[in-house]
Amino acid sequence: MRPLHVFVASTCLIAACIPRKPSLANGGATPSGASATAAGMPPPPQSVAIHQVSEIEPPPIEVASEPLPGFTRGINLGNALDAPQEGSWGVTLDEKHFVMAKAAGLDHIRLPVRFNSHAQNQPPYTIEESFFKRVDWALDRAQAHGLSIIIDLHHYEELMKKPVEHGDRLVAIWKQVAEHYKGRPASVAFELINEPCNELKSALLNPLQKRAIAAIRATNPTRLIIADSYFWAGADYLKELELPVDPNVIASFHHYQPILFTHQGMPFMPAEFQTRDIVFPGPPATPVTAVEAGQKLDWVNTWINAYNSQPIATNANGPNAIFDYFKLVEAYIKSSKRRVYLGEFGVTDNADPKSREEWLRLVRKEAEKRKIGWAVWDDGGKFRAMNVASGTWVAPIHAGLFE
Ligand code: GLC
Repeated sequence: MRPLHVFVASTCLIAACIPRKPSLANGGATPSGASATAAGMPPPPQSVAIHQVSEIEPPPIEVASEPLPGFTRGINLGNALDAPQEGSWGVTLDEKHFVMAKAAGLDHIRLPVRFNSHAQNQPPYTIEESFFKRVDWALDRAQAHGLSIIIDLHHYEELMKKPVEHGDRLVAIWKQVAEHYKGRPASVAFELINEPCNELKSALLNPLQKRAIAAIRATNPTRLIIADSYFWAGADYLKELELPVDPNVIASFHHYQPILFTHQGMPFMPAEFQTRDIVFPGPPATPVTAVEAGQKLDWVNTWINAYNSQPIATNANGPNAIFDYFKLVEAYIKSSKRRVYLGEFGVTDNADPKSREEWLRLVRKEAEKRKIGWAVWDDGGKFRAMNVASGTWVAPIHAGLFE
């Protein structure tokens, strides 16, 4: 093992113990802090990186995914139908979302939907007709603008805490959604459970996703179905996914690595994630000091030290951290021969614009090189990519995705 690999292997082991995203126990406030950005608009942070991503040669691609036509480049329209009520997190879907996505050159929308907040708690777990109508509207808008769309069941938090108790309800929800949308074209896909976490570990997730797939297949024999891995769709957990033999069931992962950079200062993250001014790629011109809660944790100290002091080639927040994450995905493609999809990636606007742009471009390009379809997180909140009121894209996000 070369020193780089020792470092990477040890950070991966450390990373595996990190609660990537805690449960959103924030009393219903937006997890993305939408209202904070919408009001006042604080100036973006000024810190800039002193290194260039181009200093590091990307590794050769060992294996690519089979492409997913119609689902190559997309955006999450988040914080809307996945909020407890649409609008309560500051985003109400508008025709303009679809117009802007199409005009930018995207081919699909990933639509987070909180069906579980709009379904009965007792059998037969009926989904509200009025909520279905709103989702129908979004599907119609996507279709009218020539966009594919993924219905992503998002924020079923009770399922993460009590998977056994909520299993039947999840399957019943998918049975209804599948029945309701069975007549839709192949440009509509279903994503079973966003970011399985907490108690919904692979041993429970696998049989549950299989049951949901069987319920969907009864009415939608060939519909594209997307299944996330455990640990907030961690690429390191793809290998634990067990899915039926079915060419239209694909595996999905999310990319927010390194999490101390992408989620720096996010209000819904625990205290140890509140260290700011972390630039990409590291090392920075001036070392950062971890917040007190971070200093008490070995993995945070190790990461911050490696970020402050390691050269770009081995830096904890360098391009190799991104490449290593993609190697986990390649290993899964090799062993499973299944198509994979990158359903979320993004950086909070607590990071400086240049760092966001560089990170987004690198992740996006590495996905594309491997023929992996992607959807950026997202249209609203602290990861905001576009402003529908003015019809403009947030410059560093647009540059990272399209240039
Ligand atoms: C996940 C969460 C969402 C969060 C995003 C970025 O999709 O469900 O609430 O904003 O990731 O962390």
